[in-house]
Amino acid sequence: MLKELDFEYYESVDSTNDRIKVRAHDGAGQGLIISAGTQTAGKGRIGRKWESPTQDSISTSILLKPEEINLEAVATITIIAAMAVRSALEKTCGLKPMIKWPNDIVLDGKKICGILTEMEMKDGKVWFVTCGIGVNVHNAGFPEEIAYKATSVDLELKKLGRNEKSSRKAITTAIWENFREYYNIFLETADLTGLKEEYERNLANRGERVRIEAQENSYEAKAIGINNHGELIVEVDGNRQIIRTGEVSVRGIYGYV
Ligand code: BTN
Repeated sequence: MLKELDFEYYESVDSTNDRIKVRAHDGAGQGLIISAGTQTAGKGRIGRKWESPTQDSISTSILLKPEEINLEAVATITIIAAMAVRSALEKTCGLKPMIKWPNDIVLDGKKICGILTEMEMKDGKVWFVTCGIGVNVHNAGFPEEIAYKATSVDLELKKLGRNEKSSRKAITTAIWENFREYYNIFLETADLTGLKEEYERNLANRGERVRIEAQENSYEAKAIGINNHGELIVEVDGNRQIIRTGEVSVRGIYGYV
């Protein structure tokens, strides 16, 4: 069970995920959360960089030592984190983002948050997991190459005529409190039985056509929902298929989401 949360904040680190790994090797316990104002070597999925050079975004990671869960269940931690961020943005800012399976949070067709879950094994078992979350909060704009698909909390509030500045601290705290709640529900069954319905309610493109972009081919399908392991269920020519995380990108047929 995830009980205590232990928050630490640094002005700047290389990557909050990497800081967690160092601390895990030094014996830190489950529930340690490291957040930073800026990251000098932030990491995205599939070996990409994640830019967080200004104090505008949230960069935060947690250490989990999941004795109870096996290797297959690690991917579901990303699903739980996505639910935690979505709900935190609703609770603290009144925004209503959706989840783009498996690990992006989107608003008005643009990405507001990315999640990177990593793990280390020891003696054939999961030793620890770090789940890192990056949320664009105060960013007033983005580099040209990502401007078409990136947004921030403050930009979205502005669209709603709300010129207030959101609080990174309040959002971060809400994310990890939600995460604790969802994670403990997950541990009861070691799968998404207790969470699937809420995830699906907030799944972008549910019931709509999406494009599955695999390495060797790309095809259209209808997004149906997820199964208890967090895999995406789609329908192609009336037949159901399971899409595993990491295998593919899923896009709406008209743009990024
Ligand atoms: C993605 O969408 O590609 C995932 C981005 C994950 C970024 C976060 S920021 C906090 C944590 N530390 C990192 O180096 N990466 C994750």
